[in-house]
Amino acid sequence: MNLSNDELLTTTRAVRKRLDFEKPVTRDVIERCLELAVQAPNGGNMNSWRWIVIDDPDIVAKAADIYRGGMADFIASFDDDGYVGKNVPGADRIETSTTHLLENFHRSPALLLPLIPGRTDPPGPQTHVFWQACQWGSIVQAVWSFMLALRARGLGSAWTTAHLWREQDMADLLGIPHNIYMQVGLFPIAYTLGTDFKPAHREPLSTVLGWNGFPTPGSTGA
Ligand SMILES: Cc1cc2nc3c(=O)[nH]c(=O)nc-3n(C[C@H](O)[C@H](O)[C@H](O)COP(=O)(O)O)c2cc1C
Repeated sequence: MNLSNDELLTTTRAVRKRLDFEKPVTRDVIERCLELAVQAPNGGNMNSWRWIVIDDPDIVAKAADIYRGGMADFIASFDDDGYVGKNVPGADRIETSTTHLLENFHRSPALLLPLIPGRTDPPGPQTHVFWQACQWGSIVQAVWSFMLALRARGLGSAWTTAHLWREQDMADLLGIPHNIYMQVGLFPIAYTLGTDFKPAHREPLSTVLGWNGFPTPGSTGA
């Protein structure tokens, strides 16, 4: 594949229906993508992230069970109005694709679980917005770089967070010191079925961008 930078940035999608669960992924490909990912900026260049790759099929299956349980917990948390994103454009397609991944997660050739130290959930100094921004801002762009690096090689992933409803179960499965490390998400790793992906629908800048102040309709001058 030979994508331009702009093509790579606009066509790296959440791949769920088009993950090839049959084709093995070798460790060297995953390690190369991680070598690229850790070039991303991180607070104080402390490199305090940790990365777990699961490629043992028994552990992948156990992690997939936790993901399914987490999704069930998430769905049980909905109130009578249902899912908060149910009215966004393409919500039906997101739901069928999410269900497909849910039903096939255990077939993933490998999973990535990124970690960052310092919990922001208990009350305390770490919950200050500064520390939250430093912590999530020291891992998210590296994970995105990982997804871009996968895409550039004909692989794909999907950012998932549903298992975090059962974060402690995943910590127990993988020996993660849960009181110190936050789990960022769970990322299936697989080759994609075909490599033609398109730019997604996004709200136009005229809605989301403000020049010199908070966005108001027409403030972009667009
Ligand atoms: C923070 C975050 C959490 C997400 N959690 C899940 C998840 O638990 N399960 C899932 O199937 N997709 C999940 N997604 C994928 C989104 O549904 C997807 O990115 C969105 O529909 C936009 O699609 P696109 O990435 O192809 O543009 C998540 C994405 C993000 C960024």
